[in-house]
Amino acid sequence: MTRDAQHTAAAVIDTSRPSVARVYDCFLGGKDNYEVDRQVFQQVDAVAPQMKHLARAGRNWLIRVTRFLAGTAGIDQFLDCGAGLPAAENTHQAAQRMNADSRVVYIDNDPVVAAHGRALLEENDRTHLVMADLTDPDEVFAHPDVTRYLDLTRPVALIHCSTMHHVSDEERPLEIMRRYIELLPSGSYLVLSHFHDPQDGGEGTKLARLVEDIFARGAMGSGYFRTRAEIEAYFAGLELVDPGITRLNDWWPDGPLNPRTVADDVALGGVARKP
Ligand SMILES: C[S@@+](CC[C@H](N)C(=O)[O-])C[C@H]1O[C@@H](n2cnc3c(N)ncnc32)[C@H](O)[C@@H]1O
Repeated sequence: MTRDAQHTAAAVIDTSRPSVARVYDCFLGGKDNYEVDRQVFQQVDAVAPQMKHLARAGRNWLIRVTRFLAGTAGIDQFLDCGAGLPAAENTHQAAQRMNADSRVVYIDNDPVVAAHGRALLEENDRTHLVMADLTDPDEVFAHPDVTRYLDLTRPVALIHCSTMHHVSDEERPLEIMRRYIELLPSGSYLVLSHFHDPQDGGEGTKLARLVEDIFARGAMGSGYFRTRAEIEAYFAGLELVDPGITRLNDWWPDGPLNPRTVADDVALGGVARKP
């Protein structure tokens, strides 16, 4: 999409229906949301207030992973799919703090992200936001703005933080991820976090089913809580970085953890390298 088309898209923000990006912004305590979005957030928050801590844990995880990739792993190109609305700290800030030359391309398809996000995310000539459909890896990898800013013959970090759980089984999320992995050059990394159903019949499963149900009944679109085996399958053929696929707060924490809550059990994340 050209800049002009992106600006046109930005002009047609639908405030009558909640959007994933804006509802997520509510969970993070942001301000780029509307009444319809806050209603979805409040429905979840009324019965599962822990979920907003999970959203925060997800952002903190993304920042820790990005530091690892830009530092220890020596990655200097990031393709962050499903950028979301800008939060306190974003991928490009963490990556460019470790290596000022890091290049970051964000992908999203939400007009509010296009409108508000660009000003905040495109802080320098190494950071860009591209409007594209993340369920179409070929479209993403062939997009002229992606190929202009990233050298896709060199290792890249492909980030899918809280995206694939909005992709239904009918849209074949595993096939989408398999295609992404095929397109990645050797030495690249996949970063993926996802809603999780621990399927233990306990509090975690109850919470997963409760939240999935609220999303399914609303107009935002669903959020699917998948099993550990289903989440592991996204990483097929890749070498998992220690400590593997874990609760988000358990992946190389920065310091002592707060007492665990049931919300910790309903998302998993991992980082893996393509050999
Ligand atoms: C739950 S938010 C996650 C934001 C960020 N990755 C994070 O973890 O903080 C999901 C983001 O993916 C975007 N998204 C969902 N489906 C998409 C699609 N098919 N193409 C592009 N972006 C999409 C939404 O607009 C939203 O900004």
